[in-house]
Amino acid sequence: MKAIVFDHIGAPADVLYLTDISLPEIKDDEVLVRMVASSIIPGDFLFIQNMYPEPKKPVFPQQIGGNHGSGIIEKTGKDVRLPVGTFVFFTFYNSWAEYAIIPEKWLIELPQAYPALKASQMVNLITAWDLLELTGVKKDGWLVLTAGYSSISLLVAQFANTLGIKIISIVRKLRTGDSHDTLHADAVIDLSVSQQTLRSELLQLTANQGVNGVVDNVGGKVLEELIRTTAFGSKVIINGNMSVDKFELHNNDILFNSIEIKPYIYRYLLAPPKPEDKAFLEHIIRITSSRDFHVKIAVTHQLKDYELAVSASLYKSGDGKHVFIFPGDH
Ligand SMILES: NC(=O)c1ccc[n+]([C@@H]2O[C@H](COP(=O)([O-])OP(=O)(O)OC[C@H]3O[C@@H](n4cnc5c(N)ncnc54)[C@H](OP(=O)(O)O)[C@@H]3O)[C@@H](O)[C@H]2O)c1
Repeated sequence: MKAIVFDHIGAPADVLYLTDISLPEIKDDEVLVRMVASSIIPGDFLFIQNMYPEPKKPVFPQQIGGNHGSGIIEKTGKDVRLPVGTFVFFTFYNSWAEYAIIPEKWLIELPQAYPALKASQMVNLITAWDLLELTGVKKDGWLVLTAGYSSISLLVAQFANTLGIKIISIVRKLRTGDSHDTLHADAVIDLSVSQQTLRSELLQLTANQGVNGVVDNVGGKVLEELIRTTAFGSKVIINGNMSVDKFELHNNDILFNSIEIKPYIYRYLLAPPKPEDKAFLEHIIRITSSRDFHVKIAVTHQLKDYELAVSASLYKSGDGKHVFIFPGDH
């Protein structure tokens, strides 16, 4: 089968290549998934650069790229409960290939009618819901999202809309013709044109109350200012690392405002779904099944176009997701 693999740690554009490989037999607790759609997300690039914690590490030679995707079970081991033909999403390894062998415990079962491209983004849908919950912001509270055009922020904003939480979306530069509506937000701060400090803009928007929570995908000076502009007792969730810049705080910035700064790591990055997660997952699948819930897809690619897909994902990220798709229905 065709797969995109790498033999060394390095920059994705330098180390990835397309090749033909054969698959081993599946074990009793595993399934063979025929891939339908595989996401390309920043986390896949962290994996290729060996930046994830143990045990999420590449194994050489010919480690297949990609860690998330949707597909159809084509073959099952003798201990597997799910039948052949089930539509599934998984976070595991080896998703940038025509087929993947996945232990059943890592699978999330999806309704057959769930859209395939949306399904490939289940990692971000789950992340977005978790992030929103972690902030603890309630109806009518103000939540700030950085990297407003990122998939994660667009999804958090849509979940927040369903709960009546108000969103301030921060972008490096608002694109021509776009407005706060494009970002599913109540207000947008365009850093490229702002005349005032970020703090004064945020205080103005929140009637001097400060914001009630932050989901940060970027870091650097913007995060520093955000932390200093949160209301007493707010939570700041660090989800991403898009900037190389650092930030600086004084203990008092945290102490006297009782701020909690928390990291988020995708709940299924290092451990498979638990049986008790079923209701939570069904809830996310139900909300996001609606046509009104948008997952922004930029372009779909075949594996052979992986160089373009990777460079577009790295350098034109805010336009929506690039996704590998494969022949065959789901
Ligand atoms: N913690 C977790 O478990 C978890 C799970 C999923 C994702 N993430 C993280 O969440 C972040 C967003 O992921 P995604 O897939 O939603 O991203 P995405 O759709 O690929 O979008 C990336 C966004 O980052 C912005 N950006 C890139 N470089 C930037 C910089 N130097 N300063 C400010 N903004 C910058 C881009 O802004 P423009 O639109 O202006 O180009 C774009 O909107 C990533 O850091 C990813 O690793 C974390």
